[in-house]
Amino acid sequence: IVLIIACTIAAYLLGSIPTAIWYGEAYFGIDVRKHGSGNAGATNTFRVLGKRAGTVVLLIDAIKGWVATSIALMMYYGHLIGWEECQNLKLLFGFAAVLGHIFPVFSNFKGGKGVATLLGMVMSVHPEAALVCMVIFFLVFISFNYVSLGAIIASLSFPILLLLKAFGPENTLVIVFGFLLFGMIVITHRKNIVRLIKGQESKISLRSKKA
Ligand code: G3P
Repeated sequence: IVLIIACTIAAYLLGSIPTAIWYGEAYFGIDVRKHGSGNAGATNTFRVLGKRAGTVVLLIDAIKGWVATSIALMMYYGHLIGWEECQNLKLLFGFAAVLGHIFPVFSNFKGGKGVATLLGMVMSVHPEAALVCMVIFFLVFISFNYVSLGAIIASLSFPILLLLKAFGPENTLVIVFGFLLFGMIVITHRKNIVRLIKGQESKISLRSKKA
């Protein structure tokens, strides 16, 4: 149990790495929290610093979620836990990383909205569902040009697809965590939701000229 607590804290610390802030400050001398939507995430980095910076932040933030879940795999391959426990701990560690991304200890607990890190976590927990959710995200995104709307719908699709047994029988805990994480995404996107309803959400186009 001590090991599990230590690994949960490690996953939280990993998720806490504020990629958007550190990358923006290191390479551009710009704090993304002072521009665009003010969010310390990949979308706002894309908006403020361009495609390449946004892609780097997206990848690193997703890797944080993926690596956090891999701690459980390492424990499994080290014969410390069984396969079922490994699957459950992936959820716990991934969740801790997403929490770290949203409330990072390294930047006054003000981080991103959790989407990229959640994606990395879901890719490890359920790769097939992650792929389908990414397709859903892109369909919504290219139809409306709203990243937030795509992220909200894709994060809802994950537990719904599992609940409908789209990929066969599922571990109930994954579905519960899926809904819990969707709830967190709704909370972190509450301002985006208000802007979407008012028609004031900023659109993002992949054809933007910023490199
Ligand atoms: O991943 C966050 C995205 O869904 C919205 O970001 O900067 O438009 O609030 P932003």
